Amino acid sequence: MNTTPRTVLVTGAAGGMARGVNARLARAGHTVLCADFDADGARRAAETIIADGGAAADFRVDVASAESVHRLGDAVRAAGHEVDVVLNAAGVLDRRYLVDHDDESFDRAIQINLVGPFRVIQEFGPAMVERGWGRIINVSSIAGVTGYPYPSYAASKAGLSNLGRSLVKDFRGTGVTVNAICPGVVDTPMVIDEVRRQVAAKVPTGQIIDPEEIGALAVFLITDDARNINGADLLIDGGATRFYELFD
Ligand SMILES: NC(=O)c1ccc[n+]([C@@H]2O[C@H](COP(=O)([O-])OP(=O)(O)OC[C@H]3O[C@@H](n4cnc5c(N)ncnc54)[C@H](O)[C@@H]3O)[C@@H](O)[C@H]2O)c1
Repeated sequence: MNTTPRTVLVTGAAGGMARGVNARLARAGHTVLCADFDADGARRAAETIIADGGAAADFRVDVASAESVHRLGDAVRAAGHEVDVVLNAAGVLDRRYLVDHDDESFDRAIQINLVGPFRVIQEFGPAMVERGWGRIINVSSIAGVTGYPYPSYAASKAGLSNLGRSLVKDFRGTGVTVNAICPGVVDTPMVIDEVRRQVAAKVPTGQIIDPEEIGALAVFLITDDARNINGADLLIDGGATRFYELFD
């Protein structure tokens, strides 16, 4: 497996899933740029990587703001980093049903989960094209594939998956690939106990996903062995999507 060290920008780097993702990326020899709305969390994420012998730096970003994403680009470049890989993991799960949403709450989810990744790709994609190599990895969800009881989340993740599929055309012939990782239930604070019980009862493997499994898939996508995986929705869900039972 080609393991050329790369510089990976991880948004949502202070989150529960990113813990496993950051660790796997760093152990594979990649430099991890930890970006999050939670500046202290991003700093702690980078410190953890460095304490474990890896290379990292931290940045604050609000992906819901175009200006903040531009500032992130400026700060990353000013620090001398060239981003080879964008891993869009910043996201929010708004547990509101249709009748409880208003325009503002629905739009907030779309801004963070869908428009945010679009902004980050727009900020860092062109330099990847110039260098002739890049990887864009969007953390979508099986909620974007099957639907989900929380409509702003399902709609934003479906949009994110389709954004990635569509960008394959934009990046055609450039050495840049775009893929979505679509996890089922990952062992993070986002997951409530009721969902854990559903996983045990309904997911074919019966298992909740370890964040490091997401990291392992991301590490593989960064290798040259994965250069023909492009425009894919990579389900990592224990088989849940094949049965459409998880959210019954
Ligand atoms: N946990 C799961 O079971 C699961 C399943 C499928 C998909 N996902 C997706 O994986 C990603 C990570 O989820 P997680 O479980 O680690 O959640 P999390 O809440 O632990 O982490 C999300 C991170 O995103 C950051 N964030 C939120 N809004 C932001 C903004 N405007 N700008 C920058 N950063 C912002 C938060 O500060 C947080 O650190 C999300 O996109 C989520 O939708 C999670």
